[in-house]
Amino acid sequence: MSTLGTIGLVNGGGDAPGLNAVTRAVVRTTYYQYGGKVLGSFDGFDGFLWPEKSKELTPRDVRGILPRGGTILGTSSRGNPFRYKVLEDGQLVEHDYSQLAIDNMKKMGVEALVVVGGDGTQRIALDLHRRGVALVGVPKTIDNDLSATDVTFGFDTALHTVTDAIDKLHTTGESHGRVMILEVMGRDAGWIALHGGVAGGAEIILIPEIPFRIEQILARIVARKAAGHRFSVVVVAEGCSVQDDDPFWLAHKASPQFIEKKSIGNLLGALIPLAGNHEVRVTVLGHLQRGGSPSPFDRLLGTRLGVAAVDLVAQKQFGRMVCLKGDTISSCTLEEAVGRMKIVPADCDTVRAARAIGISFGAD
Ligand code: F6P
Repeated sequence: MSTLGTIGLVNGGGDAPGLNAVTRAVVRTTYYQYGGKVLGSFDGFDGFLWPEKSKELTPRDVRGILPRGGTILGTSSRGNPFRYKVLEDGQLVEHDYSQLAIDNMKKMGVEALVVVGGDGTQRIALDLHRRGVALVGVPKTIDNDLSATDVTFGFDTALHTVTDAIDKLHTTGESHGRVMILEVMGRDAGWIALHGGVAGGAEIILIPEIPFRIEQILARIVARKAAGHRFSVVVVAEGCSVQDDDPFWLAHKASPQFIEKKSIGNLLGALIPLAGNHEVRVTVLGHLQRGGSPSPFDRLLGTRLGVAAVDLVAQKQFGRMVCLKGDTISSCTLEEAVGRMKIVPADCDTVRAARAIGISFGAD
């Protein structure tokens, strides 16, 4: 069995349930299997810009963290060492601290990095690798929008949160006979909305990949009322958009109340009552989807990916990202990892199944 020296561990981008499972697996594998050490960098790459923001992680340090959401290392969505934002005289100024980070890694005796993050973080990892840094990536995001892996840890736990929210909205929506709108995360992909909406039994699911028409949403609400249903649940992904030529939207979009509308969920919540006697309430689930104890699936996937990442380091297979393909942990190049975003195919079997059971996507 080969031995390892010191591995640096970085969490970057938005946090996700399961990050601590990766950390625990990286530390335990490095210690127990390879006799190496792990140096954790706090708040993204900060630990390699300011060494005092790094700490050796031993198996003792990762005891009891498996069920904990978030990350004991902290993470950052703004810590790109190539474009590090610093507040100077009230202005955010970008600095290229990449060489400082690389030099510090060498001084700190870090022989390789494990970089855990989404597409943005993996792009940073690729840039560092191209500058000669030995590293391996681990995919992470609740959005599940990384094309090189079948699923990312964090996604399953987010689905638990969304499904539970929809279950709750059903009961209160039925009590009052209301249209309940739930806006969920996912950035520019609709995976959370699609899977959560089907699992939660939503009547209407709106995803960025299928721009919608408000008249079709209204028609579905009216049809449900005519069929005797007191309420409707609409799940809308944050990255959704109305079809450009939607007459209802064109007729109202100039209204002052809509110009500043940032949330698609609140926009819909304001538009629907204009079309008829519909009482509407909006819930923006927000960062609840990023929190909470990781599901068993995410704990297991995080553990498997963490172990595989250390194995790749030991095999000196750098410039690669571990991934899940089917039931098997595999790896791909970082170029493949960041090549394109994984969006919902409009004709995928889950969309077809949703339509088959009567779910509307707001567009025929
Ligand atoms: O990428 C994960 C994610 O939660 C997205 O779904 C969401 O749009 C974004 O991060 C929110 O970012 P922040 O935590 O910086 O507000």
